[in-house]
Amino acid sequence: MIVSEAAEVTKERTEQPGDPCVMVIFGASGDLTKRKLIPALYNLARESLLSRHFAVIGFARRPMSNEEFRKKISQEIKEFATSPVDPELWDRFVKQLYYLPGDVQDANSFRELQSVLAQIDKEHGTRGNYFYYMAMAPDFFCPIVQQLGATGLVREENGQWRRVIIEKPFGHDLDSARALNQAIRQVLSEKQIYRIDHYLGKETVQNILVFRFGNGIFEPIWNRRYIDHVQITVAEDLGVEQRGDYYEEAGTLRDMVPNHIFQLITLTAMEPPISFEADAVRDEQAKILRAIQPLSPEEVLTLTVRGQYGEGQIGGEPVPAYRSEPKVAPDSRTETFVALKLSIDNWRWADIPFYLRTGKRLPKRVTEIAIEFKRAPFILFRKTPIERLTPNQLVLHIQPDEGISLRFGAKVPGPLVRLGAVNMNFDYADYFGSTPSTGYERLLYDCMCGDATLFQRADMVEAGWSVVAPILDVWKALPPRAFPNYASGTWGPKEADELMERDGRRWRKISD
Ligand code: BG6
Repeated sequence: MIVSEAAEVTKERTEQPGDPCVMVIFGASGDLTKRKLIPALYNLARESLLSRHFAVIGFARRPMSNEEFRKKISQEIKEFATSPVDPELWDRFVKQLYYLPGDVQDANSFRELQSVLAQIDKEHGTRGNYFYYMAMAPDFFCPIVQQLGATGLVREENGQWRRVIIEKPFGHDLDSARALNQAIRQVLSEKQIYRIDHYLGKETVQNILVFRFGNGIFEPIWNRRYIDHVQITVAEDLGVEQRGDYYEEAGTLRDMVPNHIFQLITLTAMEPPISFEADAVRDEQAKILRAIQPLSPEEVLTLTVRGQYGEGQIGGEPVPAYRSEPKVAPDSRTETFVALKLSIDNWRWADIPFYLRTGKRLPKRVTEIAIEFKRAPFILFRKTPIERLTPNQLVLHIQPDEGISLRFGAKVPGPLVRLGAVNMNFDYADYFGSTPSTGYERLLYDCMCGDATLFQRADMVEAGWSVVAPILDVWKALPPRAFPNYASGTWGPKEADELMERDGRRWRKISD
């Protein structure tokens, strides 16, 4: 049976706990730590995927003792754990957590970190393996790496490993990403750098590769001969919440496209890698990023759409306009919605458009990749109006529903030949049950095991920025005139629909 076979495979892959190590979290008093990192580590502990020789040092400015930190985390886990917390396991887990107050710009703090690390390493038998997680604002990434370098905390010797996980945003454009890569590579080798993109931690995103390359029937039709176009929707119903200051600088294009959405595109479009070794997979992803045709300034005007939400309603509740959100300028020109048409210039995808849209305050949270196939070449059923012969569509549902569905035509029962569109659905939760997770478990575990497949290499990050650079340039030179241009709770500005309609296509209707 499918379920038990699958369970076997998973078990083999994951039975080994990660290497003995200490994880240092810079920014341990922040949101990411309590919402994602600690719950993810706890889930790993529950699955016996943490080494028995493991410890965490939380590092942040706020003065706190180990005991106070443990108490705080024990409170927070009640809110952020993805399933009920087992008190016995938690008691054991929390004893592995330590706290060090310090300033990431002060060399003394790093000397202190060095001695605390040495002590904890000895107590927990972590063999001198350390990894550092940058859960702080991006301005601090480089100074922290430099301080780690100066203190000798990233030197790998006597079989010890030292790794650094860097959160997004990795730069805010091509130049800054290059500069950051250059600066951190003066201290670290590429194999020590784990640039994280939490989209790759999502089960359904990882499943794109399994779906494509673990089955024989899809690959032969996964190309320009059979596919009409691909459309990717990453919609959020939330607004910018408390992140107005960050968002004003970033905007949706930077926030979502060169990272999360490009992950979805590369996994959908890449050639089969020669193995599942990190570089084999990442080489193929990088090739796709390099094959995405950069837009000319004229194309930016016709093939890109930006929007900003005005006030409206979400789930029947009134919500404010972006310009009325905290820490947002009342005349802000920052985009909260983007739609693009991109082409991938290679043998497999020439002339097959990839449309993508993403935005905040859309009617619902949904991420999906829809592959639309070409219509049947000959209309045998003449009495069926042609527009009713809906093309086959394969949809990879990433979130919140996780699954895959295939739409095809079927005869509507009755004496006449009439065609209707029906769906064949696979739902993850139905088959495998649901194992709620934060999405960070796999990424943290992989870092502990030294598997960088799901992390970004420098060239990939830079290639991603190269694609969006011309868009950023034109948008900067020509500020938007009509913001806000979509009401909260709608599917974005009308230009996004026109982008598709001009090509005789339309966005998949997603029920609100
Ligand atoms: C983050 C962005 O990287 O991803 C946020 O900064 C966005 O603006 C979030 O809301 C979306 O992630 P998810 O996992 O909720 O789809």
